[in-house]
Amino acid sequence: MHFQYTEEQLMIQDVARRIAAEKIAPSAEHHDQTGEFPLENIRILGENGLMGIEVPAEYGGAGMDPISYVLAMVEVAKADAAHSTIMSVNNSLFCNGILKFGSEAQKQKYVRAIAEGKEIGAFALTEPQSGSDATAMRCKAVKQDDGSFIINGKKSWITSGPVARYIVLFAMTDASKGARGITAFMIDTSKPGFHRGKTEPKLGIRASATCEIEFTDYRVEAEDVLGQEGEGFKIAMGVLDAGRIGIASQAIGISMAAYEATLDYVKERKAFGAPIGSFQMTQAKIADMKCKLDASLLLTLRAAWAKGETEKNGGRFSTEAAVAKLTASEAAMWISHQAVQIHGGMGYSKEMPLERYFRDAKITEIYEGTSEIQRLVIARNETGLR
Ligand code: CAA
Ligand code: FAD
Repeated sequence: MHFQYTEEQLMIQDVARRIAAEKIAPSAEHHDQTGEFPLENIRILGENGLMGIEVPAEYGGAGMDPISYVLAMVEVAKADAAHSTIMSVNNSLFCNGILKFGSEAQKQKYVRAIAEGKEIGAFALTEPQSGSDATAMRCKAVKQDDGSFIINGKKSWITSGPVARYIVLFAMTDASKGARGITAFMIDTSKPGFHRGKTEPKLGIRASATCEIEFTDYRVEAEDVLGQEGEGFKIAMGVLDAGRIGIASQAIGISMAAYEATLDYVKERKAFGAPIGSFQMTQAKIADMKCKLDASLLLTLRAAWAKGETEKNGGRFSTEAAVAKLTASEAAMWISHQAVQIHGGMGYSKEMPLERYFRDAKITEIYEGTSEIQRLVIARNETGLR
């Protein structure tokens, strides 16, 4: 690992930074207040390669590496976390698994549309009764004589569910086999038997639309099975390893925004005749914020590097991804909390974005595996115990 970005990595960081400054930051408050889905901005991100950063050009993407993905996600999340949630699902949860396990026809049909930002993708694993315990899913796919499947069941908390055209869905094809009885399917939401619930009102990332989805006798043709029958859980877990790098990057973007606002404020705001940044108690907070932010970035870059190496040599990068996600999400929560505190009453006011950073940071400790699940993954991998 070396500490210099390549020209390509700096280039995509610059593209993301420019779009974030010109399009996303100016409308972030509006999107947070109204919860309006930022479709126009998502299209712009797609047109600039940011919806399929690691997708090869032949499937409509930018053909960049995992480090480029981290750098671009950080820039977008710094301007608005909700935009980066949509970007993260399209990039890592949707495109990744299809690129790795999909057929040539699936890559052409599904990856291209999402990578170019023409359609929105989603990833449906969670159900009302099964979140962390993902294998306890009840959504069922029953194989027919012609090789097609009929799907019935519900999925909950689906990011971009209200707007997605295509979804990677996980359903039980053989409950007697547990995790090995789960299969992944490509879903086209314009087909009969697919239904969307109401958009969930949320604490943060309010412009990222989330809803329950339901399948009633929805038919999937044999060519829309993703990977092999029974391979679905491994696909989900492998995809989530990559996804967790995206959420770590999102957390870093939120932390950076809160940290930079704080650095400005402690120099301007005065109390007892001195800038509040001159008080040792404030300085200690600044130092701890800086340490947590740098640790998050370095661990996330390490996870991205490990992903790149794994793609060349095989193996897993689950531990590196979980360490990055756990560290960066807990850092974002702590940093945004301290940033609100340091801003005093203004930190609590909607006139400044600090309270939004605080609300947005919380989700990074919950989705794509809670902090407890990241600890479980790390400790299991380190000890070999279950
Ligand atoms: N890669 C490949 N395969 C993996 C794997 C990985 N990272 N992790 C586990 N597996 C395999 C195991 O090897 C095992 O295979 P075998 O049967 O061949 O041995 C199989 O999967 C089952 O593994 P476990 O026994 O470890 O499974 P478990 O039931 O104990 O669950 C868990 C493990 C880590 C808790 C997992 O259920 C988990 O990650 N839960 C959290 C779910 C989650 O993150 N949901 C996110 C939803 S998407 C989302 O949230 C998106 C968004 O917000 C934007
Ligand atoms: P539970 O699993 O019920 O957990 C409740 C509490 O128990 C948590 O604190 C958890 O850490 C703890 N716990 C559970 N098991 C253990 C254990 N073994 N050891 C210690 N503690 C444990 N899912 C999708 O599939 N696709 C999406 O696009 C998606 N987007 C989301 C967007 C938002 C805004 C939200 C809120 C959720 C989204 N999710 C999505 C679901 C998300 O991944 C789950 O909420 C998350 O995995 C936790 O599951 P749960 O809510 O069922 O909590």
